Amino acid sequence: MKSVFFTGATGGLGEVCVRALAKRGWRVFAAGTNTAKLAALGEVPGVIPVRCDVTDEARVQAAKAEVLRHTDRLDAVVNFAGLTGFASLVEGAPVPAARRMVDVNLMGMLRVNAALFDLVHMAHGRIVNCSSSAGWMTAQPFAGAYVASKRAVEGYSDALRRELIFLGIPVIKLQPGPFRTGMMDDIHGGLEGMLAASSLYGHSLRRLRGLLLAMLGRPRPPEALVRVLLRALEDTRPRRRYRAGSPRLLMALEILPEGVIDALFRLAARWADRR
Ligand SMILES: NC(=O)c1ccc[n+]([C@@H]2O[C@H](COP(=O)([O-])OP(=O)(O)OC[C@H]3O[C@@H](n4cnc5c(N)ncnc54)[C@H](OP(=O)(O)O)[C@@H]3O)[C@@H](O)[C@H]2O)c1
Repeated sequence: MKSVFFTGATGGLGEVCVRALAKRGWRVFAAGTNTAKLAALGEVPGVIPVRCDVTDEARVQAAKAEVLRHTDRLDAVVNFAGLTGFASLVEGAPVPAARRMVDVNLMGMLRVNAALFDLVHMAHGRIVNCSSSAGWMTAQPFAGAYVASKRAVEGYSDALRRELIFLGIPVIKLQPGPFRTGMMDDIHGGLEGMLAASSLYGHSLRRLRGLLLAMLGRPRPPEALVRVLLRALEDTRPRRRYRAGSPRLLMALEILPEGVIDALFRLAARWADRR
């Protein structure tokens, strides 16, 4: 039986993937902090819930000890734990928010991969790091901390992949576009919060709300990610990256030089100012 340690297992994407993996016969160590959701996952045959706050080294080591009670090898580690937001990088409290996001999105995955590496090495397993379309596409305003953290995830994963080539362990980036989960609620909540409270951007955001939401793209159901994750975990020769549901409007912008995209944002800002 193959074993996987899965962070973010209690999230919108993680939960459907964990259930699908268990159904396919994987033993899943499902990690998260939400006690009720962990208990529900514990009812699924093949799923072993593990409490693990990825920002806390001691909790990560305790999670490893829990895995070692069952096995000394992992065929995969999947890092899905993540936070997002819709916020300014200069107004409000950008520093603690960005620090928290980097601690979960980047450092959390680094902590987990480092702590569990000997188990992955033992099984000649693989590592899957969840990035985002935000990790490689042109940067969107008001998603700054998230974009920065996911671009860091891309750089970290690329360097880790080349390091682990020396040991024969594949490192795979998963780059989802928008999916209907709690993350979408967090983005909409952040936007509504800025509409109500931002003295710098409230006026522009009210006029550009439709455009900003269109840029996010139409979210897909979480089930649509399962097939892609299964390929990342089960392909005999896994690819370096797997994409799923990249947002169309941003895909169209990808063909333009950055200077032209800036000019389009300048036009939008002027249009918002005039009306
Ligand atoms: N949904 C999208 O549109 C989308 C698009 C691109 C990429 N992604 C990426 O996909 C991954 C999963 O996102 P999702 O949509 O499933 O989000 P979600 O529903 O908001 O779930 C977030 C998950 O992260 C976990 N988490 C947050 N802070 C944690 C911490 N300190 N320690 C341990 N776990 C923590 C949560 O666990 P607890 O609640 O148990 O703490 C939860 O399982 C993320 O990396 C995200 O960036 C999502």
